[in-house]
Amino acid sequence: MTSSDKNTDNIISDGSYVLVVLNEHKRWVTKVESGKQFHCHKGFIEFDEVIGKPYGIRIFTSKSTAVSIYKPLQIDFLSKISHSSQIIYPKDAGLILLYGDIKPGSRVIETGTGSGGLTSILASYVRPNGHIYSYENREQAFKTSTNNIKKLGLNDAITLKLQDAIEGFDEEDVDAIVLDLASPEEIIPHAYSSLRSSGTVSIFIPTYNQIERTYHELKEYDFGDIICFETIKRELQLKTNAIRPQTRIIGHTGFLIFARKRTKMVQK
Ligand SMILES: C[S@@+](CC[C@H](N)C(=O)[O-])C[C@H]1O[C@@H](n2cnc3c(N)ncnc32)[C@H](O)[C@@H]1O
Repeated sequence: MTSSDKNTDNIISDGSYVLVVLNEHKRWVTKVESGKQFHCHKGFIEFDEVIGKPYGIRIFTSKSTAVSIYKPLQIDFLSKISHSSQIIYPKDAGLILLYGDIKPGSRVIETGTGSGGLTSILASYVRPNGHIYSYENREQAFKTSTNNIKKLGLNDAITLKLQDAIEGFDEEDVDAIVLDLASPEEIIPHAYSSLRSSGTVSIFIPTYNQIERTYHELKEYDFGDIICFETIKRELQLKTNAIRPQTRIIGHTGFLIFARKRTKMVQK
């Protein structure tokens, strides 16, 4: 045991989640339940054998295959989410957190909720004192995201609303607004009135024509410091004597636009 293993946060307990990793392709997030087992095609492990042990241990399954038991990362929990729409890709979510300045204590409005993928990421960063107000106009997506957020135990940091963002937002003076929906340009006036001055708007947008319309609207509403870019992730194949880019990659997810709310210039 190392000194960090004595940290009770790093000890596997009954009811906690673990990430079981067999190899780079096979990994599962599962809930630890005393008296039960985790099964995969390489045998099973008894949860009682890992309860009380530090995260990061390696153990053998009933078929003598070694597996590693980690504490799941935020990104691993996305695999637990049921989909009602495409969820945001991690490369885009990470940049929204940084450029949107979303941090502990932030009050954030998000629309559309979709499956709640981005909602859950945002919520885990604004905790413990911040809050996410997320708007969705499709009943099925609202139901799916409600279940996902409950499953992830994030209800305290999120208010989900079955409401069309076209009608405007109920909150005022929020720190950040995040838009991931088909016509973000229609929401810019509402984003402007609900943001505090100097607050951020972050927009995920799949096509060039949507950028054109949204950029025009951002300028109409006097948003400043507008930037737009695409980020491309190219994963490497990690194989001894054959390290090179993977043959297949995801070619395009979307573009990101970021801007800041300005208020009227003070007259001299
Ligand atoms: C691409 S999905 C969002 C995915 C989400 N970011 C995630 O990571 O799971 C877009 C969602 O926006 C919703 N939507 C579209 N227009 C809307 C509007 N005017 N108000 C509220 N939600 C809207 C759609 O129903 C859809 O569920």
